[in-house]
Amino acid sequence: MQPRKIIIDTDPGQDDAVAILLALASPEEIEVLGLTCVAGNVPLDLTQKNARIICELAGKRDVKVFAGCDRPMGRALVTAEHVHGKSGLDGPDLPDPTMPLAEGHAVDFIIEQLREFAPGTVTLCPLGPLTNIATAFEKAPDIAGRVAKIVLMGGGYFEGGNITPTAEFNIYVDPQAADIVFKSGAPIVVMPLDVTHKALVTKERNDAFRALNTPVGIAVAQMTDFFERFDKEKYGSAGAPLHDPCVTAYLINPDLFTGRHINVEIETTSELTMGMTVADWWRVTDRPANATFMNTIDADGFFALLTERLARL
Ligand code: RIB
Ligand code: CA
Repeated sequence: MQPRKIIIDTDPGQDDAVAILLALASPEEIEVLGLTCVAGNVPLDLTQKNARIICELAGKRDVKVFAGCDRPMGRALVTAEHVHGKSGLDGPDLPDPTMPLAEGHAVDFIIEQLREFAPGTVTLCPLGPLTNIATAFEKAPDIAGRVAKIVLMGGGYFEGGNITPTAEFNIYVDPQAADIVFKSGAPIVVMPLDVTHKALVTKERNDAFRALNTPVGIAVAQMTDFFERFDKEKYGSAGAPLHDPCVTAYLINPDLFTGRHINVEIETTSELTMGMTVADWWRVTDRPANATFMNTIDADGFFALLTERLARL
């Protein structure tokens, strides 16, 4: 079977880093056409630098990394250094990148790739605010119909929010962009907090990363150690939720997850619930289904896949 062509849109972020590493370690299933960086966890100048750091950590200097939008479509940028540290990649001590940024804007790369390949070929994997994706759809209305699938990390229903009581960070940062994407008509698979809060990096799972005893394994263990201190204090959980790698794992083995095809709309007016993913899980409205909203994960299977694939780098 041919590997799936994907563009990873990202705001690294330790969990983005692990998602990118998993993709780069899985060439049989995934062909990474490029990384498009967006402002989110930290400002754009850091997300585009961190994306290149991660590619070099994986030994994949040939990956195209593009800088994209440096602020949300209609709101001031909100960042998350309190979770990810000042650099956005706190934890391991990794060298600055030497590989260059790719020429051109991330939005134009997304448009070009979707026009170059046949409709239904390219999958978009947003791991941060949806600013680049929505800007591309606005700039080139013909491309939404050419997207094979959008598999994104964002939102929450039973789990509520993590940046406000009702909103998850990626959607909250750019709710206008999320509204455009969820109304685009492109097939969408959502990995919300309802799933990612069940993908916890317990001590045993972190030890398994470290036991790989490779630069990648040790760096991932150090990243998730750092990332975890915030979540443990906040959630008292048995470890940090590993949000973004759920997107990559779905591309490799969708059977790790279950969910429902339902209507999901985005709150874009009330400041109280701004950025909420209003998921009609119980189908109490007649609003048309527009997204497959995941709700369960085989966490042991997920971490076994992740650890096995990271060992390849
Ligand atoms: O809410 C979690 C999401 O926000 C993850 O993608 C994390 O990297 C941050 O972008
Ligand atoms: Ca992210």
